[in-house]
Amino acid sequence: MASKSGGARAAWSGKWAFILAAAASAIGLGNLWRFPYLAAKYGGGVFLITYVVLVVSFGFTLMMLEAALGRKTGQSALGAFKSFGKKYAFIGILTSAIPFIIVPYYCIIGGWVLKYAGAYIADGSAALADGGTYFTNFISGGGESFIWAIAFLAIVFAIVALGVKNGIERANRILMPILLVMTVGICIYELTMPGAIDGLAYYLTPDFSKFSVQLVVAALGQMFYSLSLAMGIMITYGSYMQKSDDLEQSVRHIEIFDTGYAFLAGLMIVPAAFVAMGSADAVASKSGPSLMFIILPNVFDQMGGIASIMGFLFFLLVVFAALTSSISLTETCVSIVQDSAHTTRKKALGITMAFIFIMAMIVNLGYCQLAMIQPLGPGSTILDFLDFISNSVMMPIAALLACVFVGWVIKPKAIIDEVKISSPFKAEKMFTVMVKYIAPVLLVVILLAYVAAQFG
Ligand code: PHE
Repeated sequence: MASKSGGARAAWSGKWAFILAAAASAIGLGNLWRFPYLAAKYGGGVFLITYVVLVVSFGFTLMMLEAALGRKTGQSALGAFKSFGKKYAFIGILTSAIPFIIVPYYCIIGGWVLKYAGAYIADGSAALADGGTYFTNFISGGGESFIWAIAFLAIVFAIVALGVKNGIERANRILMPILLVMTVGICIYELTMPGAIDGLAYYLTPDFSKFSVQLVVAALGQMFYSLSLAMGIMITYGSYMQKSDDLEQSVRHIEIFDTGYAFLAGLMIVPAAFVAMGSADAVASKSGPSLMFIILPNVFDQMGGIASIMGFLFFLLVVFAALTSSISLTETCVSIVQDSAHTTRKKALGITMAFIFIMAMIVNLGYCQLAMIQPLGPGSTILDFLDFISNSVMMPIAALLACVFVGWVIKPKAIIDEVKISSPFKAEKMFTVMVKYIAPVLLVVILLAYVAAQFG
């Protein structure tokens, strides 16, 4: 069973190891910078409510589908679909390609975050709070940002190389509690800052006038990315489960952890950014990199004597969140290579790391020597393109195919029977209706909305 025996598949030590690993994969950069920004943009509380409703219905269905499919077949995405017939192999191939596209750029951002944690110690808060020059110079500098990405990758490699139980499980058991404690600590401190209460009120009060189709599409997309769905991770992680582990309860726990953490990240970021920028609209106008690497350093810089230490702690916690997500992505790639090349885990890891290294180098060059490549129009980068193609195109398609496959080809009963091996399936009816009808429709809507937004 254990990963040391070359070709054999790995296994979790128990249900909680699975839950923790899936939560560690789910909790990542998406919770920390995307969720708070979307909540600020889409009317605070009304976004939170919509998000929760989608997680417990749609997200639940997809996660159950993937984890049960993995446990049923004992294979990663590649083999899982193929085991029902050669003609379904393409769903596995499409799904399996997604983590290979995401991991190189995720590690580049991981390198940026690692650099920032270090820079708070080396350069101090004031140097970083300069309105964006520091950040732009750093990412377009080329060599330095790649060195930080390599440092980040080296940590990921070391942990995955130690195997599922000794590496991934142990890293999650150490990093996740620290992450949580640090986040709660920073939240409490920030909420006592003058003016933070107005931001808090904005974050929590539902502004129903902001409810719109765009809000639902944004919440759906975020849910996907945040729960690490539709890229084979949950299939791989499900395949390491025991038949006796309660699947439904495990999936419910993962949802609670991921959504709970996203809520906390919002508490940590929205009120603080509100203080720095004065209004929700100002916060909402700054997404992704600029919120995290430009606005938050300004917030920290206003904290006087403890500015550098707060900045350091914040970026350290982001490093932890990004690390545990990168580990899950890398592990999924390794299991796919291992299953498809019928090779040892060691060789599969070597191949995966070499691929990530080369791709990450190309993503990094996208900010300097290859900056003329702007695949999504003026100003866009290779990283933006990989993010768009994976999140907005491939993931909705992969999820749609998985739903149609389970809903109409193998039939929901195949999954329901697998779930029932360990426990009754309480949400059986909802699962069936979601997977056959509602989820496919919602997925087509997301896909069209994303593509229209990009090219419309
Ligand atoms: N779910 C992670 C997050 O919220 C992102 C992620 C995407 C992790 C894909 C693994 C795979 O940041």
